[in-house]
Amino acid sequence: MRILFIGDIVGKSGRDIVSSLLNSLQNEYQVDLTIANGENSAHGKGITIKIYKQLLNAGIDYITMGNHTYSKYEINKYIDQMDKLVVPYNHAKRQTDNYYKIIEINGVRICLCNILGNVLMNETGEDMYEAFENLIDKTRELGIDFYFVDLHAETTAEKRIFVEYFKEYAKIVLGTHTHVQTADEDIINGCAFISDVGMCGAYESIIGRDVSESIRNNVDKEPTVYQIAEGPAIFCAVLIEIDEQKKAPVAIKRIQIRP
Ligand code: FE2
Repeated sequence: MRILFIGDIVGKSGRDIVSSLLNSLQNEYQVDLTIANGENSAHGKGITIKIYKQLLNAGIDYITMGNHTYSKYEINKYIDQMDKLVVPYNHAKRQTDNYYKIIEINGVRICLCNILGNVLMNETGEDMYEAFENLIDKTRELGIDFYFVDLHAETTAEKRIFVEYFKEYAKIVLGTHTHVQTADEDIINGCAFISDVGMCGAYESIIGRDVSESIRNNVDKEPTVYQIAEGPAIFCAVLIEIDEQKKAPVAIKRIQIRP
């Protein structure tokens, strides 16, 4: 069985490249399950119900989020209708079933979740290690074969620590949030890992943000309105092969397509 995980989809450029490439990639790699990080899909921050539906129509099965989960106010209204959305488990808690999803596919029972890192992530509500331990406790009776974690975090070291500390439970740990694909994909103690999957978004940009606006804001200290970059996009993803007998990943491959 093969799982395709698409890195942070940033704005319209990111949505367009995913729509145009996804079906052919799914056919080429015989993908059984497609998951994408969509926390930047609506103009760089958050998601709307319209974009959520567009991404599912494009062929994505589940959408994970991150620190910008609640940046678009309408998510508060529609979250209960967005049953393929997975929001960070250690964010401020509210009444929703979207903190994790149990996905049973080809006889393998996977718990998909989204965890925010501790370092340089102001929005974190709960320590990421404690939060994941709580999730394991809460789901202990559900017959889960392994956990699939979209670890939405800023630093590489804490992503790697997470893999070591939770090696009995988390068999897929994929970093998101930094938007630059790293070349450290590997199977570590039986866990498919990469520090960051990378983004789908405008290639000529500052991790998806408009270059000129970024310079005016960061260098000139000008108060600017966040502006998303436009233009041809890079596509970043990873493909994970699961051995259905072992119920564990056996390979991880990086995919990066530049314009
Ligand atoms: Fe993020």
